[in-house]
Amino acid sequence: MRILVTGGAGYIGSHVVKLLGAKNLEILTYDNLSTGNHWAVLNGQLIVGDLADKDTLKKTVFDFKPDAVMHFAASIVVSESVRKPLKYYRNNTANTLNLLEIMKECNIKTFIFSSTAAVYGIPVNMPVDEDAPMMPINPYGTSKIMTELILKDIASATNDFKYASLRYFNVAGADKDCRIGQAYKESTHLITRALKTAKGEMQKLQIYGTDYSTPDGTCIRDYIHVDDLADAHLLALQYLLEGGKSDVFNCGYGHGYSVREVIDMAKKVTGINFKVEEAKQREGDPPVLIAKSSKIKKILNWNPEHDDLEYIIKTAWEWEKKLS
Ligand code: UFG
Repeated sequence: MRILVTGGAGYIGSHVVKLLGAKNLEILTYDNLSTGNHWAVLNGQLIVGDLADKDTLKKTVFDFKPDAVMHFAASIVVSESVRKPLKYYRNNTANTLNLLEIMKECNIKTFIFSSTAAVYGIPVNMPVDEDAPMMPINPYGTSKIMTELILKDIASATNDFKYASLRYFNVAGADKDCRIGQAYKESTHLITRALKTAKGEMQKLQIYGTDYSTPDGTCIRDYIHVDDLADAHLLALQYLLEGGKSDVFNCGYGHGYSVREVIDMAKKVTGINFKVEEAKQREGDPPVLIAKSSKIKKILNWNPEHDDLEYIIKTAWEWEKKLS
């Protein structure tokens, strides 16, 4: 079994490559290393290439002839997407079209797609399920919805093309053996920023908004360990290969923590009382975002092992210390 992984040198892709390697699958990572790192690819070969470069992509796909494609390569910073929408529609939507066209030419019929909870925007019902309306509030979410719609249309037009779209909630944590983890040049994520503040790399952590309609006034998110998310990808792949139908799955634990609770846990784990400052709300943040996760548990038999904020932050902290 051969799997092509776009973005396999990135944070989430590299954890999936690690798991695919443990299953002895043949892996080829295709990554432009814009945010990924060659050292993060623990298994298989790495081709440094861009999805916009159709010639290199086509040659890679035709030479490798994968049985399935897992597509992680994308731009992911919500605030940047608001300022640079074209970048997001080009990189996330148009470049995915390149990949899908080449897959069709090469007769590859199985596709796992990295989608996001950002497709829901500000959901009316919480926890949010997969049938909730898709009403994104930023170009990042829209760029991912567009791809989901394209996938749906391809699957209806072709009998044998199948996809699973995984809608990630707040992914955090790192490899338990501390080999890989988040290594963005500039992280916008709460847990990473809290730990960078504990480490002294940032002077203070700002809480974006303390006047939300939540019990402690700060936003609530569903934090999921990256290894559990990686496992969901393998289950989705297995499901499709065994005849499962194309579908969309939320990837979250089904409960959340407030920003203040995350900060308290980061202080407990690190043992450092780092500086925290209350600031105004960040644009585009829904007050609460929690996954209804019964579908992925039922259909894919997903049985997450790390539903534990302390473990998530501990692994992220070990990794953060190693980075410096
Ligand atoms: N936050 C702070 N201070 C910081 C960073 C974040 O208070 O320095 C707050 C945010 O305002 C938010 C919460 O912490 O309330 C979580 O923020 P993150 O930036 O860690 O994550 P988001 O919920 O904004 O975004 C994540 C993914 C996106 C995805 C989105 C789905 O990073 O890719 O979930 O809504 F689109």
